[in-house]
Amino acid sequence: MSAATPSALLDQFRQAGQGQVFAFWERLSPAEQTELAAEAREVDLAEVARLTRTLLGSSGAGGPDLADLEPAPFVPRPESGGDAGAWARARAAGEAALRAGQVAAFTVAGGQGTRLGYDGPKGTFGVTPVRGKPLFQVFAEKILAAGQRHGRPLHWFVMTSHANHAATEAFFAERRWFGLDRARVHFFRQGRMPAVDFAGRILLETPGRLALSPDGHGGSLRALARSGALDLMAAEGVDTLSYFQVDNPLVRCVDPAFIGWHRLRGSEMSSKMVPKAYPGEKVGHFCRQRGRDVVIEYSDLPAERQQEVDASGRLRFLAGNVAIHLLDREFIRRMAGAGASPETALPFHRADKKIPTVDAAGAPVRPERPNGVKFELFVFDALPFARQPVVIEASRADEFSPVKNATGVDSPETCRQDQLRQYARWLRAAGVTVPADATGLPAFPFEVSPRFGDDEASFAASWSARGPQSPLAAGDCLD
Ligand code: UTP
Repeated sequence: MSAATPSALLDQFRQAGQGQVFAFWERLSPAEQTELAAEAREVDLAEVARLTRTLLGSSGAGGPDLADLEPAPFVPRPESGGDAGAWARARAAGEAALRAGQVAAFTVAGGQGTRLGYDGPKGTFGVTPVRGKPLFQVFAEKILAAGQRHGRPLHWFVMTSHANHAATEAFFAERRWFGLDRARVHFFRQGRMPAVDFAGRILLETPGRLALSPDGHGGSLRALARSGALDLMAAEGVDTLSYFQVDNPLVRCVDPAFIGWHRLRGSEMSSKMVPKAYPGEKVGHFCRQRGRDVVIEYSDLPAERQQEVDASGRLRFLAGNVAIHLLDREFIRRMAGAGASPETALPFHRADKKIPTVDAAGAPVRPERPNGVKFELFVFDALPFARQPVVIEASRADEFSPVKNATGVDSPETCRQDQLRQYARWLRAAGVTVPADATGLPAFPFEVSPRFGDDEASFAASWSARGPQSPLAAGDCLD
């Protein structure tokens, strides 16, 4: 197609009622025309029409089906009454899978990170208490350590967005892939969706560009398939993908016990839960509905249900989703190829947003109220489609402290403190007391590299190998 006459494309858009996309075509330079045409080709017009019908029409406001909702069963940790022997067997099975190279790490890093307000890919944001190591480095060191511990280097897949792909790759290259084998670090872009106005008309961000945004973390399933990541996994004998978000430096990037539960139970998708800290905590809830596991967002579960307690006084809907999953490779393939049928595919969600756009003359408009809708896929929506889903309990203090906001809850400061508390717990378990306040927060900052220890056991091993030393002081780093 020549850039000057995208007639077939134009016709398709006009016939779909989306001719406004080319309203300023004549004014664009040839390069801008080429770019706009390329963006337009990314759009699945039939999908946009379907979403307009289902999510923007009157039926779209209904929210999820809440009938027959029960709490999902989960495997409690030994510390909460779980079967220690079964956990030990799971751990052994997971370690065997890691030694056999059957597991890869997977970070979803395509989000826009608007709440943090940091200018750059979120994974490049510094989080550790002394060195300020970026999130990507923390994960890299954990993945390196796990590979060394199990005698088998891991593959690591990183999903980026169009907006941050080049910067992410450049960051890894500048830092020499943090010591990982670069042939085992794989970057791929997630898909984009056009934003629409409330009538379903695709919005322009500028006269020559569509208002496109990442298609949500659930877009990772189709992006894994499209990018060839699944084929690479198959060729390398990897059948389990360990999924985590870019914002949580406490995550166990590959957790042997979790992997073991997943594999021994023949699960296609497993998840970690933490008990909710209080009834109205803003997390998704693992629920069971007519024999299938589902996640119901806090905003969708009525307040009275969030407060229900069982006979022992414990919250009934206790299991909070912390976005840590294991996914079976062929399950991802099945979900990615499932097509548009709501019976088999991930559903899109609607988010009403203030979307920068242009007016009829092409002048910029910066809306003060939501003027349109973005469509997003959520990875946890794959859960009801999975065979034998497993949910296991995780320790919040040890595994979950995301950096979401610039200040306040889930911010760099709370995350920094949670890392320090974790180091102090590991030291106490190794017989060393560090001065700390009532919340366990040490009186001075120090840092433990994941290569030194990334859980209590690996920390204890390195600590005792280190032998007698002078006491820890402010600013010390155990590497
Ligand atoms: P969040 O829900 O925190 O969204 O993403 P976000 O876009 O990063 O941040 P805000 O809401 O704008 O502040 C949770 C995880 O899912 C990834 C993010 O990178 C993060 O790891 N994600 C989210 C994607 O990879 N793609 C998306 O389209 C959305």
